[in-house]
Parts: sequence; structure tokens; C-alpha cells
Amino acid sequence: MKPKNLKNITCTGKRVFVRSDLNVPLKNKQILDDYRLQAIVPTLDYILQQGGKVILATHLGRPKGQFDANLSTRLLIPWFEKHGYSIDFASDIAQAEQKSTQNFDTILLLENLRFLPEERYSPNTLEAAQKLAKKLSSLASIYINDAFGVMHRNDTSVTLVPEYFDPEHRGIGFLVAKEIETLENLKKHPKQPFVLVIGGSKLHDKIDMIEKFLQAPKSVRIKTIVAGGLIAQAFLYVQGYNMGIAPIDDQTQQIAKKILTQAHDAGVTIILPSDFYLELTHNFRSRALLIDQIPSNGVIVDIGPQTVDIFSHILAQAETIFANGTMGIYETPAYAEGTKKVLQAISQSNAFSLIGGGDINAAAHLFGVAKDIDFCSTGGGATLAFLGAEDPFEDLPGLHVLVK
Ligand code: 3PG
Repeated sequence: MKPKNLKNITCTGKRVFVRSDLNVPLKNKQILDDYRLQAIVPTLDYILQQGGKVILATHLGRPKGQFDANLSTRLLIPWFEKHGYSIDFASDIAQAEQKSTQNFDTILLLENLRFLPEERYSPNTLEAAQKLAKKLSSLASIYINDAFGVMHRNDTSVTLVPEYFDPEHRGIGFLVAKEIETLENLKKHPKQPFVLVIGGSKLHDKIDMIEKFLQAPKSVRIKTIVAGGLIAQAFLYVQGYNMGIAPIDDQTQQIAKKILTQAHDAGVTIILPSDFYLELTHNFRSRALLIDQIPSNGVIVDIGPQTVDIFSHILAQAETIFANGTMGIYETPAYAEGTKKVLQAISQSNAFSLIGGGDINAAAHLFGVAKDIDFCSTGGGATLAFLGAEDPFEDLPGLHVLVK
């Protein structure tokens, strides 16, 4: 069974709660990349054109249940206004309740859901989370999940709010529908060799996901993983290399070791960097250091040229590529080269290429290669989880709740 598509739901005169993922990369309160905002436009336009009222909800960053001015969804308002939308803003639920019935041609944007401690819940806090879910659900009579990037999260707005809507009045938006269609096609026919490029800094999340990927049905299993970012450093660390001040805790070490063994058993090759650049203040920028030369106080910021050559060679021979996460600190021009070159190799390869995640999308746009990539997924961890799952409609909580 598939979740109901927004195109089969009549929104005229109805209030529609749209759970979106507008978790865009920000620097000094400025949006670095608007890909996730652009991607939600078809859903918003459809509801507005039908004469429905959009109640737009998202998370932004990981504020841990409290207000943070640097992560307020207010920062998104200028983007919407620049693109011709009229926006009303609700800083709390009381305001949202009051404003949700007014001005149907104006989008009501809710404050960052993760400022509410109940947005993330555990079995111990389920009751409080359900109370929040009930309040959020009372803002609308239709629930649409168009937040592919959080489909793997058990968050209140993703899994509990839809429980308050009957199956006829809840479903997925156009962004999620497109993601499902593309990823399902890829899962059915991944041409081999299928290469996973992994990087970035969400270490725990990604390591868990790689594990799932290694357990994926053989037909969709990757042949090779090329790793950069903190993930690569964790793998190298457990192989005995000094990785400077990289934050690799005991738990990460255990998981990294487990994954190396699992990859070996599954016949998946993990290719790790052989050289790195270190932070400028350590005066090492003039040349990259080999992995056995990293000093204990070193701060690794990018992969080195030898690594770029090896990764590019592997990517040139791939038939399917999925890249999630960046190789280094791509936002700082001096540390961006590794990410840029790897993205160029992906865009120039003949493989079906897919990238997923906020940072890698931002980097692909920054370096002008996004147009040469076959599909830019809005999900990071969610895309990994979808591709790695035997049955994504069972495994991804946000999808599961919409099909049960
Ligand atoms: C993402 O950027 O991958 C999504 O917005 C999910 O964010 P999260 O990993 O903080 O849940």
C-alpha cells in the first residue's frame, strides 16, 4: 500500500497542515542554499490554487527543545516574500490557533518545531508528545507530509500528528511523491558497480545507516563505499591512525569497527582517504599530510589531492552513485577543494548520479554542478534509510504511519 497523494485530496476551503523539511544550511542567519525551499513550492502552489489554507511547519537545525534566534523559521520569511508568497508567522501554538482560520491566501508559518521539547519524544515522554500532536492537529483538517528529509525520524509532527487525521485526510505532498518514485526505481534497477560516497559530520546517524545499507538485499547492495569527512576519520582511527582532535567517542569506535567487519563479510570495499589537509592555523595547508603523519593537535578540514585522485578514478568507473555528505568544510573556500573535485567527478561520470542531504546539495549548487546530477534528493539520512530498507513503507516511521 502507498500513502495517499495530495493530488487525490481536495483542499478547497480546508486548512492543510504541511509538515515540510525546510532545514536549509544557514550562516550568519543567511540561507546558503534554497534547494529545500524550491522543492516545496509545487505543493504550496497546489494547495493555494485550490483555495486551501497552508499551515507550514518545519524544523530547522537541532535546537534541543529551546528557542535559538539563529534557528528561527522567521529567517525563512524573506525568501518566501521574495518569491511572491504572503506569510503570516506564529511564534507559538496559541498564536497559530488564532491565526489558522484567517486569510486563506496567506501561508501561516509556524516557529521551528524543535523549539518545542515535545517534538522529539521517547516512550517516557510519549504522553506529552501526544498532547502536542493533538494541538498541532487541531490547526487543520488535512495533514500532508512533504518532509522527505525526516521520514526516518520518530518525531511528533512526523508520526504522531497524522494519527489524528483519518486516512482520507492525510497523505504525502509532491516532493515526497517524487522522491519515492525516483528512489524506488533506483532500488529496482541499480546498475553495478553501485558506489556510495559518504561524508559529512552527522557521525552517529550515518554510521547506523551504512549498517542498514550493508544489510540491504543483495541486488541493491553497494559494491564500494568511498568515505570522507568525520566518518572516514572514525574508520581510520579504529585502524590505529591518529586523527588529531576529531571527536571519535567510544560508541562511535565500536560501531565503526562493526561496520568494517560487516562490510568485509558482505564483500563491500571501503575506500578511505590516504591524505588530508589540516586547519590553516597549524600551517600545514601548503601540503597535505599522509594519514600516518597527522599530529595529535591537528584539525582535519579536507581530503588531500592523492585521495581526490583515487576517489575520482573509482567514480569514473561507477554505473550508479549515491553521495551523502561532504568531504570537508566546504563552506570555507580554503577547505572546499576535496568536496568540489569529488562532486565534479560525480557530475562528469556516466553513472546514474544521486546526491542527498542539505550540505551536499548546497555544495553542488555552490560549485555549479547540481544541473549535471541526475537527482538531487532533499533527504540525507532519510534517503540512506530508504535505499537501505527492505521495505521503506515499513521501516521509515513517517511513511509507515501513512500506510497503516
Ligand atoms: C536533514 O538535514 O537531513 C534533515 O533535515 C533531518 O535533520 P536531522 O538529522 O537533524 O533530523
